[in-house]
Amino acid sequence: GVLSLGSVAACSSDGAVSPAAKAVAQAEAARRRTGASVVRARLTPRRVTLNLGGRVVTTWAYGDSVPGPLLRVTAGDVLRVEVDNQLPAETSVHWHGIALRNDMDGVPGMTQGPISAGGSFRYEFTVPDPGTYFYHPHTGVQLDRGLYGVLVVDDPAEPGGYDDEWVVVLDDWVDGTGRTPDEVLEDLRASTAGGGMNGMGGMDHGSMPGMGPGSMGGMGGMTGEGMQSRLLGGAGDVEYPHYLVNGRTADAPVTLTGKPGQRVRIRFVNAGSDTAFRVALGGHRMTLTHSDGFPVVPVPTDALLVGMGERFDVMVTLADGVFPLVASAEGKKGQGVAVVRTGAGRAPAADVQPRELTRRVLLGSDLKAAADVRLADRSTDREHDLVLGGSMAPYRWTINGETFADAEPLDVGEGERVRLRFVNNTMMFHPMHLHGHTFALRGSGVRKDTVIVRPMQTLEVDLDADNPGQWAAHCHNIYHAETGMMTTLSYR
Ligand code: C2O
Ligand code: CU
Repeated sequence: GVLSLGSVAACSSDGAVSPAAKAVAQAEAARRRTGASVVRARLTPRRVTLNLGGRVVTTWAYGDSVPGPLLRVTAGDVLRVEVDNQLPAETSVHWHGIALRNDMDGVPGMTQGPISAGGSFRYEFTVPDPGTYFYHPHTGVQLDRGLYGVLVVDDPAEPGGYDDEWVVVLDDWVDGTGRTPDEVLEDLRASTAGGGMNGMGGMDHGSMPGMGPGSMGGMGGMTGEGMQSRLLGGAGDVEYPHYLVNGRTADAPVTLTGKPGQRVRIRFVNAGSDTAFRVALGGHRMTLTHSDGFPVVPVPTDALLVGMGERFDVMVTLADGVFPLVASAEGKKGQGVAVVRTGAGRAPAADVQPRELTRRVLLGSDLKAAADVRLADRSTDREHDLVLGGSMAPYRWTINGETFADAEPLDVGEGERVRLRFVNNTMMFHPMHLHGHTFALRGSGVRKDTVIVRPMQTLEVDLDADNPGQWAAHCHNIYHAETGMMTTLSYR
């Protein structure tokens, strides 16, 4: 409902207003639309028993489903979420991709204290930009247990131009197999030195087909696709027994229904912790329209690569029949499936391989920012390098040679144009994510908050420092982030 809002809070707990809190409150007030609505929601992280499709697991989730509840607001609205922590552990909720007020960003130790077991917390912030976003804890590897949900921000000005919308969330699933993500993390941490240079050797890769640097040619042969697969290098550190689409395994997939000829917007979200997915819809070409919530010049494609933390929106015109929507775990064995049904026909098999999946995947270099979301031309005020390093054994990932606890923050001044240069010195890919901002890829201008940096690649992004606070910047491989590949963008 519509409420009139009071002034934007800028008080610390002792009642004093610090200059930093004042800057955060000013940025919040500037984002808030007059007459903004307050959208209320409640999240209840807790232990649940779930049926993933033929497989029953006990895990942690928001409420009683994975993904958690779909939250939906219109750009300029205020989202107010009461979190009631029923987990036997501390937690937090981070609003991935949203340019929100810093004290609502949900990073314990950086923007707030943890929400204690049995405790609660109210998140309340203006949501400025339309698009596809998601939420998840910023506490350890809790995301990998199934604590995630999608936040859709509607554009009040958008003409629409589609008949229906599907939200499609991809995930890799290790929980419920007798090992929790925390135990997986401990195992990784326990891997000891031994040929583990630059993320190339070490425990897993020797035993994973196609994973070692000498055997990469085995990943799809010498076709163009094989070449593209190789660009990702080591594609993941953990073997997952299941891949999920909207919380279901390929053995008992969800069905998405429509009518032939309808135009459908599909919002893809990769909530996986350690898996990039190659996505295709059999019998259809997709037209990519948005990347991490922001519009691109629309471009048709057969397949998409979606890194952890990335979101892509596509438009499809539905054909008549039954079609597999497949999310193939890039460089690993296994896939998630959803069934698209617009007519009669048999459901596809769990291992169906639509030929669109083997065609060319859209690359970042194929994209261009839509004109209205390009950053204004101006000179750079400040540059920072983020040199990505680390190894599989010992399992330790770094930015500028340090793990997070020892990392020197990257300082910026409010109002500056800042260039970040990601320099990947490893043979793994890293989906690098920045909180509170949507940067522009240098060259294409494509706006993103999470970008895959390929093995040995250097990639530059620009941003306007217009959201004061302390912001996490990290790899969205949750195991890499948790073992060190994280730093802070810090407003002076
Ligand atoms: Cu979704 Cu700090 O990340
Ligand atoms: Cu990484």
